[in-house]
Amino acid sequence: MPVTLDYNGKIVFITGGGRGIGLAITTAFARAGATIIITYTSKDPQEVVKKLTEEYKVSIHVYHCPGEDTTRVNEVIDLASKEVGEVDIVVPNAGVSLWRDCIDMSDSELDWIMKTNLYAPITLCRGFVRHWLGMSTSVQSSEDPGKPPAGERVNLNKRILCVSSISGIVNMNPQRQVAYNVSKAGLTMACKSLAGEWAKYGITINSISPGYVATDMIKDPPPGEGREWADKWRKDTPVDRFADASEIGQMVVLMCSTESSSFMTGHDLVIDGGFTTY
Ligand SMILES: NC(=O)c1ccc[n+]([C@@H]2O[C@H](COP(=O)([O-])OP(=O)(O)OC[C@H]3O[C@@H](n4cnc5c(N)ncnc54)[C@H](OP(=O)(O)O)[C@@H]3O)[C@@H](O)[C@H]2O)c1
Repeated sequence: MPVTLDYNGKIVFITGGGRGIGLAITTAFARAGATIIITYTSKDPQEVVKKLTEEYKVSIHVYHCPGEDTTRVNEVIDLASKEVGEVDIVVPNAGVSLWRDCIDMSDSELDWIMKTNLYAPITLCRGFVRHWLGMSTSVQSSEDPGKPPAGERVNLNKRILCVSSISGIVNMNPQRQVAYNVSKAGLTMACKSLAGEWAKYGITINSISPGYVATDMIKDPPPGEGREWADKWRKDTPVDRFADASEIGQMVVLMCSTESSSFMTGHDLVIDGGFTTY
């Protein structure tokens, strides 16, 4: 029997789905027939959405949603669920990087990286799980009907897949990026922790850790020594190239399939062209 990835009737929520790896994930899900909800913060992706909608005849809905603004995130979860439908798969993909020696890094830079890369995926997932359980998305709400009785198992049949990084596993070199590395190590561990916590609700949560992927994030190393960084990154990757974002998008679609991935949870899949084998 051929293995097919058919996401017709499924609704997928992708943060930062309008560009880079997020766009590749959006494209792969669109090819598989999913209905898609994407968020953005700085670049409205309407143009690319129009193209994908025409090409794949799927519907794609766009919301402005800075990941660190928990109030807005909860609002978007409620709004999108009402306007588009109940979400089946959540892909916290949005992230930012910072190349900075620790001794030069300001508190606000550290905050920015942690809030965007670590806190935002956790609060997004918390909002969705509370919503799926029939609770208010906000922890502070006085109208909260409370969670299911302790010990009760429910099968919500939901998937969460976070975009982490091999930077959470090995210390990338020669650039200095302690905040980014720690944020990604934290995110990978958050997925493992939540896999255990939410298994009883029928929610699987996994992560991927890509190596270097050709996107805006790595395209402009700083002038000076930064010019040599890209050469070193490539040389340190056994396949001698960066990933094309589509190679990551396809893998995410494979990992979120309700048919093929139902027993996989708390797993981090490294997709790095062999970088971490050296
Ligand atoms: N490129 C790599 O080599 C690489 C390797 C491993 C892991 N990753 C991870 O892959 C993910 C995507 O990275 P990328 O390479 O595609 O980077 P990118 O091209 O720079 O795209 C970043 C995405 O994140 C969104 N975003 C940034 N700050 C946000 C915020 N505060 N709130 C909501 N959305 C925000 C952006 O939205 P706007 O378009 O609205 O700005 C954009 O869609 C990140 O988590 C990154 O850490 C990347």
